Amino acid sequence: MRRPLIAGNWKMHKTVAQARALAADVVVAVAGLKGVEVLLAPAATALAAVAVIARPQGLSVAAQTMHWADQGAYTGEVSPLMVAELADYVILGHSERRSLFGETDEALGRKVHAAFAHGLRPILCVGERLDEREAGQADAVVLGQLAALDGIAAQEAAGLVLAYEPVWAIGSGRACDAAEAARVMGVLRTALGARFGAEAAASARLLYGGSVNPENIAAYLAAADIDGALVGGASLEAEPFAALVRAAADQGAPAHEAFS
Ligand code: PGA
Repeated sequence: MRRPLIAGNWKMHKTVAQARALAADVVVAVAGLKGVEVLLAPAATALAAVAVIARPQGLSVAAQTMHWADQGAYTGEVSPLMVAELADYVILGHSERRSLFGETDEALGRKVHAAFAHGLRPILCVGERLDEREAGQADAVVLGQLAALDGIAAQEAAGLVLAYEPVWAIGSGRACDAAEAARVMGVLRTALGARFGAEAAASARLLYGGSVNPENIAAYLAAADIDGALVGGASLEAEPFAALVRAAADQGAPAHEAFS
């Protein structure tokens, strides 16, 4: 059984003080919810502060990117060693990293390897642009982006999180139709199976991302191949984010038991 994962990508929002306050509010809002993993991905400057608040309460923490080298002359970058001190996961290949900062599948491959080597679980993001979708290339694009997984072991693939985030759905309010997201994610899981075996494909978690909100989350979670969500805008305040976590949590005792 794959445990649902609701991940909040705070992007370049929140000072340390603001991040501390939001993390504390999220911890309170999701307290007691079972059967769901909750993950916070603050800016690098706030990782330490958020980790101290979130991890003791059972929440996970992710960096939003990292370099592949352990250390060196890479001004402005953060290394896997540094991230591994503070986080459980690292988001890799978010479309903003790819489009605004020139991240390539080749660089992402190095980062995926570095993540596993340092005990960090990668959340690898894939997704097509609108022009690619309109040209009928959505599946080919996301399958091509799996090149970043070249050379990883089946055992590592089993611990992978893969986020399908159509670029046109991110921050646009135009979420991908749940049935279509589920179809693409089925294609992705099949591809994982072909490369890493059925067992790894069955335990890797697949997240949908792109304008997820409390109104549309249930439709994604209802799909067999969708194990949770990577959330931007709706993760910047505790209440909409907690509503997403509640939607993914165990719903408690079945109704008939309430009467016994
Ligand atoms: P959004 O962002 O939820 O604001 O669309 C998703 C993401 O970029 O991960």
